[in-house]
Amino acid sequence: MQDIEKRIAQLKEEKNAVILAHYYQTGDIIDIADMVGDSYGLSRKAKETDADMIVFCGVKFMAESAKILSPEKKVLLPVPDAGCPLADMVTSSDIERLRREYPGSAVVCYVNSTAEVKAESDICVTSANAVDVVKSLKEERVVFVPDQNLGHYVAEKVPEKEIIPFSGYCIVHHQVSVDDVKKVLDAAPDALLLVHPECTPDVVNKADFVGSTAQIIRHVQQSNHKKFIIGTEMGILHVLKKKNPDKEFYLLTPKLYCTNMKKTKRLDVLHALQYGSMKLRSRKKSWNVRKKA
Ligand code: 13P
Ligand code: SF4
Repeated sequence: MQDIEKRIAQLKEEKNAVILAHYYQTGDIIDIADMVGDSYGLSRKAKETDADMIVFCGVKFMAESAKILSPEKKVLLPVPDAGCPLADMVTSSDIERLRREYPGSAVVCYVNSTAEVKAESDICVTSANAVDVVKSLKEERVVFVPDQNLGHYVAEKVPEKEIIPFSGYCIVHHQVSVDDVKKVLDAAPDALLLVHPECTPDVVNKADFVGSTAQIIRHVQQSNHKKFIIGTEMGILHVLKKKNPDKEFYLLTPKLYCTNMKKTKRLDVLHALQYGSMKLRSRKKSWNVRKKA
């Protein structure tokens, strides 16, 4: 075992900590995690443990969600500026405005949102349960924040309700085009196309299966098919290949790379465990600034 990995294991034991990694993290982080999963699934699993500390290798809204579910645990985000641009696209003042514009509507927020927006919304959903939750609401009109594409997907699946999608989008999934789909299908015509609902409706309409990260993984495992085109962030390929060595995977496009999800390094996890969520890179920066002055 490398020194850093050994030290992480020791500190984890000392602090009674659990390391969570979202599927989009690098293989390096996934391989040292105690639990790997989708954003909400990880928070739920962590709540059930008797750990005192959660180190969440993901982005800020995920660590916030873990804290909401486990207020008694210390939750650390190893890289504090690992954010989700989609989550930051809607604010609580947008919610106030939408409530004024659409009185009597339910305000539904996707889990990819800030804690503040969650607090202002009526209900919070994941990409896996959004359709069922919206169907179950008594309101006929639903304001859906922040992701327009997931909002459109829900609207398509729940035609009996009026869905008003907010204008936010995931800067990673939203850039996938129909042309990208065409190119990859030309290269692998017999592969199944699986995409995340954060992709645009044009792309979603071409897919054989639409689902959250956990649902995509489950679908691959349950399918007899051998070839799959993956239309979500490329980090998921590490887990897919590990779990299905007999199957072949094609990434829909190399554009499916989330820089925020790739910020966390093993050294950041070590520092989070040792000192709190401060990371080495920011410590270095402030030291340099002091030296200059
Ligand atoms: P999941 O909830 O499907 O894991 O997705 C999280 C995410 O950030 C999608 O871009
Ligand atoms: Fe946010 Fe998109 Fe990155 Fe997911 S892939 S964390 S939605 S920016």
